[in-house]
Amino acid sequence: GAAFGTGALLGLGGGLAGARALQPAGGETEPSGCEAEPFGGEVLPCHGAHQAGVVTPPGANIRYLAYELRDETDADALGRMFRILTGDIEGLTSGVAPLADPEPELAARPARLAITVGIGPEVLRRVAADPAPDWLGPLPVFSRDRLGTGYDGGDLLLVVQADDATAVAHAARMLDRDLASFARPRWRQHGFRQARGAESEGTTTRNLMGQLDGTVNPAPADEDFASLVWLGEESGPLAGGTALVLRRIRMELDTWDQVDRPGREQSVGRRLSDGSPLSSPPGSGEHTPADFAARDELGLSAIPVAAHIRRAHSSNPAERIFRRSDNYDDGTEAGLLFACYQRDPLTQFVPIQRRLDEVDLLNEWVTHVGSAVFAILPGFRAGETLGGSLFA
Ligand code: HEM
Repeated sequence: GAAFGTGALLGLGGGLAGARALQPAGGETEPSGCEAEPFGGEVLPCHGAHQAGVVTPPGANIRYLAYELRDETDADALGRMFRILTGDIEGLTSGVAPLADPEPELAARPARLAITVGIGPEVLRRVAADPAPDWLGPLPVFSRDRLGTGYDGGDLLLVVQADDATAVAHAARMLDRDLASFARPRWRQHGFRQARGAESEGTTTRNLMGQLDGTVNPAPADEDFASLVWLGEESGPLAGGTALVLRRIRMELDTWDQVDRPGREQSVGRRLSDGSPLSSPPGSGEHTPADFAARDELGLSAIPVAAHIRRAHSSNPAERIFRRSDNYDDGTEAGLLFACYQRDPLTQFVPIQRRLDEVDLLNEWVTHVGSAVFAILPGFRAGETLGGSLFA
């Protein structure tokens, strides 16, 4: 007993000496500014009318994992697969390791992990829940598209996001393992946004062109949000879900950097500093509405006629999309994992992208190199199975 006590005291003494060594000379303590509460233990509920990961706070790290169903994955197998996924999602997002997780410690800090599941038309065909909605398939071709680089389509999608890349990597690996007998990987993409704590919560994130990206966007509290984004009863087994369009958009950052600041601001129609529209004075802030009729002192459109926000703006309120994009940078290629949610991509994303494809000053520096559309399944409650409506 005495020996144990001495050892513990020695250990404590060593610890204190170590802590003291971190203090500034003179012994006074200064706020270090980096003592925020750890958030690794924070949990986002996975149950609800809608799946987590669409309107819940975005994770700083995101992975999109697309799969192809194996030939032998029939309706029964899909039923088993969704039951396994349900258990994995419930466990992983609440910090409980799934069965036979060889590294349960990695599951213990979910850092607001959200796992969202989407399907392509092949899943509907195999569970005989045909016909698939007409938007669920490849999008119409746009003239500037350069697809076929390995990031198109898929039968099944997992979106895994959290504020900690370790939690994301571990969850993705567990899900991958549990899906292996049902589906094989088709493509995967990693994205990120500003780390939690880098800016105060709710700040619009910056993309790799330096712009505040996501300013003008329907908000879940808006009266028409549900009718813009969530699939209604007419969508049968998909009601409560939503349609995701994911475009991998490469940015030519080297040539973008050579453009002067006014040129870069005019191509979007907003200032780089604070995101304010060019139709109002600098410093007026990102949420000042853009005035597309405003003229500058020369009588020219304050927001150029080909500026991105003018071309992307929808005068038809029903055409709007809910954007939720992340940055990607693989070391050799960088850009935007442009993600948007809506009821019907053919009447929401497509007309907007048609305008941009035709004319958009940004086009000189951006190229769409990947494209996929998935039906994000409705949410599920405790005791229910994700995707259960497909088998009803
Ligand atoms: C607005 C960047 C692609 C649709 C904006 C804004 C920026 C931006 C900086 C202004 C701030 C904001 O409201 O978020 C980019 C970049 C892109 C890209 C860098 C490609 C790499 C797209 C695509 C679409 C789109 C593919 C849809 C087809 C919109 C819409 C707005 C917008 C709807 C709001 C327009 C309004 O003010 O009403 N984008 N964007 N963007 N963008 Fe993009």
